[in-house]
Order: sequence, then structure tokens, then C-alpha cells
Amino acid sequence: MPPVAPIAFLDTWNATCQSSVSSILLIPAGKTFLLNPIVFQGPCQFDVRVQVDGDIIRPSQLWGGKIDHWLLFSHIDRLSIVGSGKIDDQRSSSCFLRAFSSFGFCRSNAQLLPTRALVAGLRLINSSQMHLVVGFSSAIRITGVTITAPGDSPNTDGIHIQQSHHVNVSDSTIGTGDDCISIGTGSFHVNVSWVTCGPGHGISVGSLGMNNSRAEVSDIQVGHCNISSTMNGVRIKTWQGGYGYAKAIIFENINFTAVNNPIIIDQHYCATGVCAEKSSAVQVTDVQFIEVRGTSSSQVAINLNCSQNVACTGITIQNVEIQPAQQGGQTSSYCFNAHGTVTGVAMPAVPCLMP
Ligand SMILES: *[C@@H]1O[C@H](CO)[C@@H](O)[C@H](O)[C@H]1NC(C)=O
Ligand SMILES: *[C@@H]1O[C@H](CO)[C@@H](O)[C@H](O)[C@H]1NC(C)=O
Ligand SMILES: *[C@@H]1O[C@H](CO)[C@@H](O)[C@H](O)[C@H]1NC(C)=O
Ligand SMILES: *[C@@H]1O[C@H](CO)[C@@H](O)[C@H](O)[C@H]1NC(C)=O
Ligand SMILES: *[C@@H]1O[C@H](CO)[C@@H](O)[C@H](O)[C@H]1NC(C)=O
Ligand SMILES: *[C@@H]1O[C@H](CO)[C@@H](O)[C@H](O)[C@H]1NC(C)=O
Ligand SMILES: *[C@@H]1O[C@H](CO)[C@@H](O)[C@H](O)[C@H]1NC(C)=O
Repeated sequence: MPPVAPIAFLDTWNATCQSSVSSILLIPAGKTFLLNPIVFQGPCQFDVRVQVDGDIIRPSQLWGGKIDHWLLFSHIDRLSIVGSGKIDDQRSSSCFLRAFSSFGFCRSNAQLLPTRALVAGLRLINSSQMHLVVGFSSAIRITGVTITAPGDSPNTDGIHIQQSHHVNVSDSTIGTGDDCISIGTGSFHVNVSWVTCGPGHGISVGSLGMNNSRAEVSDIQVGHCNISSTMNGVRIKTWQGGYGYAKAIIFENINFTAVNNPIIIDQHYCATGVCAEKSSAVQVTDVQFIEVRGTSSSQVAINLNCSQNVACTGITIQNVEIQPAQQGGQTSSYCFNAHGTVTGVAMPAVPCLMP
């Protein structure tokens, strides 16, 4: 297949974007397009639909410098990206630190900065970094998406949401080497439902508060998800020394199968080796785990490891039943400075949760 230069895409994009009626950019079925980094720049005149019926793959050579995205949709109101095509990053093996943007997204598979966008049906494959990044966006619906990368590929989050509000992710299947979904700072009103996750690191809020930064996250709902063979199940992770809050977070109707750390609040998250306990931390409040069931491959199935100086408050454990994945195994719970209530069933029991 001869490479198609982005200029053809850009011309077509311009025509689509400038059209005074709603229009479609079609990636035709049965064709494969090699595509260099491209910015689909808005604002556009009217609704735009990108119909991905064919496949888009990344050329194998590296591109250097400051480029931190592959496909970027920027400042578009009323965008839909739909189809059953494959978007394959081919796992470019290296991702230089200098290529990180100020948000740390490096060559993500696709990055959205629109409002009122729909992403449906696509298959995102083997990104060298995060697959789909939603940043500075609002009213975004992602549905029926399949994201696949090897379980041992580092930093390949499925969907990362940051600085965005009113984001719905539903009916999707995600298996990568990092978080299936990660929800970073500036995320409000995010609803994740009917997601199948694994392998990977589970569904995470965070990490938050890195480098003593302020984090603000609230109104997050994660429900009706099946999580299997992951390093974590549902997790809130914050660094020592940050500040701000992560609040009003609900995890409900979650099934785990052989998950390591099924329920975990880790306020000592440290990906850089050694991190000392500090006097400030992102405050974690009003977090509910409701109707959560399944099996744990680690002993500590419920781990509420909060900061020494900033307690977690308003934690609810309601009808949580987690059995050991191995026959004859045991599960237990652990709390550090965690306050809240247990109602209904709690298996393992959580006597360490303080009122
Ligand atoms: C697309 O439109 C933008 C803005 O109107 C212009 O700067 C750019 O040169 C156009 N690109 C192509 C490939 O036509
Ligand atoms: C992703 O990459 C891995 C190894 O690099 C390869 O085995 C796998 O087939 C690729 N996945 C797809 C869907 O192409
Ligand atoms: C998210 O889903 C809920 C319920 O399904 C719906 O009320 C809401 O409008 C959706 N939001 C977006 C941005 O699609
Ligand atoms: C989130 O999505 C689920 C499933 O579509 C829905 O039942 C629930 O009402 C939604 N919640 C909000 C806050 O939109
Ligand atoms: C955090 O600080 C370290 C050390 O100063 C620096 O190397 C790194 O780039 C910073 N990370 C972010 C996301 O700002
Ligand atoms: C979780 O498991 C229960 C019992 O097997 C099942 O009824 C429910 O539908 C499952 N939830 C999801 C989201 O698949
Ligand atoms: C809780 O966090 C502390 C500090 O990082 C760590 O040493 C300890 O192992 C953690 N406990 C559990 C049960 O994860």
C-alpha cells in the first residue's frame, strides 16, 4: 500500500471542516492508510463526522522533537469519529522523554480537544503510549471502542481523561499494559459503564498530586464493569505532597476475576523510587464502593492506604464480597487513616475503617 501523505488528509479535512452543511470525512473500507502525525484543526462550520471504515496505521519510522500526538482533534464542536476501522500505532518502541508535552502525553494514539464529540466503534491497537486521551474537552461520549495492547507494554493506558467534564465511556473492551481507564486532574462528571477491562492496571482515578501539584477531581461514577487479571481493580492513587481533592466518586456493580489489589486507595503512590511522607496530600473524600464482587489474587483485597496527615473521609463499603482467587487462600483488609462506614456485607471485613 503506498503511503498517503497527510496533505491529502489535510485538504480533505479542510474541505470537510469548512463545509457549510454537516459533512463526512470518509476513510474507506478495505484500504489501509499510513498516516504521519496530523492535527485535525477546528473550529469547523458545522457538524463533522469522521467515518473510519478502513484502517489507519502509523509509519514505522520515529518522528522526533516535540510531537506528542499522532492524531489530534482540536477545537471542534460537534465531532463524531465512528466506524469499525483499526487505528494501529504499531508500538513504536521508544518514546523519548523530550517528546512529552506539558501533560506528559507522548505520541498518544488519538487526542481529543473538542466539545460534543462521539467516538464509537473504533479499534485502537498497540499505541506506544496512551491510546485515547481526552483533554480540555467536554460532552464527550466514547462507546463500543476496543483497545488492545500487550499486557507487558508500559504506559499504554487505554483511555486517559484529564481537564475534561461530562465524559461518558460505555460498552467498551480495554486490555493494555497500563490503566484501562485513568482519570486525571480537572475531571468532573465522568461516567464509565459497561466496560470490560484486562489485562492492565484496572480503572484508576489518578495519579494525582505529582510534584506537589494541585488536583481537582469530582463526580466520578464507574459502574457495571468486569475487571479481570489486572494489577489493580478500582484504584485512587495520589502522590505525597500534592493538594486539592478527589471527591464524590462511586464504584458500583463491579465484578473482579483474579484481580490483584481489587479495591485500593493508595495515597503513597510513588513511581520514582523513594517518596517521603509529606505534610500535604490530595484529600480523598466521599468515595463509595457498592455491590462489588469477585476474586482477588492478592491477600489484601481492600486496601485503604491514606495519608498520615490528611485522612480519607466518607468512605462507604456497601455489599462488597471478594473471595480469594486461589483455593485455600485468604483475603484481608488494610486501612491507614481511613474513615467511613460499612453497610451490608463486607467480605473481607473492614474493622479498620474508623468512624
Ligand atoms: C487548511 O486550512 C488552514 C486554515 O484555513 C490553512 O492554514 C491550511 O493551509 C489548509 N491546509 C491545507 C492542506 O489546505
Ligand atoms: C500488538 O503488538 C504485539 C507485539 O508487538 C503483537 O504480537 C500483536 O499481534 C499486536 N496486536 C495487534 C492487534 O496487531
Ligand atoms: C452520559 O450518560 C448519561 C446516562 O446514560 C446521560 O444522561 C448523559 O447525558 C450522558 N452524557 C453525555 C455527555 O453523553
Ligand atoms: C452513568 O451511566 C449509567 C449507564 O448508562 C447510567 O445508569 C447512570 O445514570 C449514569 N450516571 C450519570 C450520573 O449520568
Ligand atoms: C516532576 O519533577 C521531576 C523532577 O523535578 C521532573 O523531572 C518531572 O518532569 C516533573 N514531572 C511533571 C509531570 O511535571
Ligand atoms: C457481574 O456478575 C453478576 C453475577 O454473575 C452478573 O449478574 C452481572 O451481570 C455481572 N455484571 C456485569 C457488569 O457484567
Ligand atoms: C501503605 O503505604 C506504605 C507507605 O508507602 C507502605 O509502606 C505500605 O506497604 C502500604 N501498605 C499496604 C498494605 O499496602
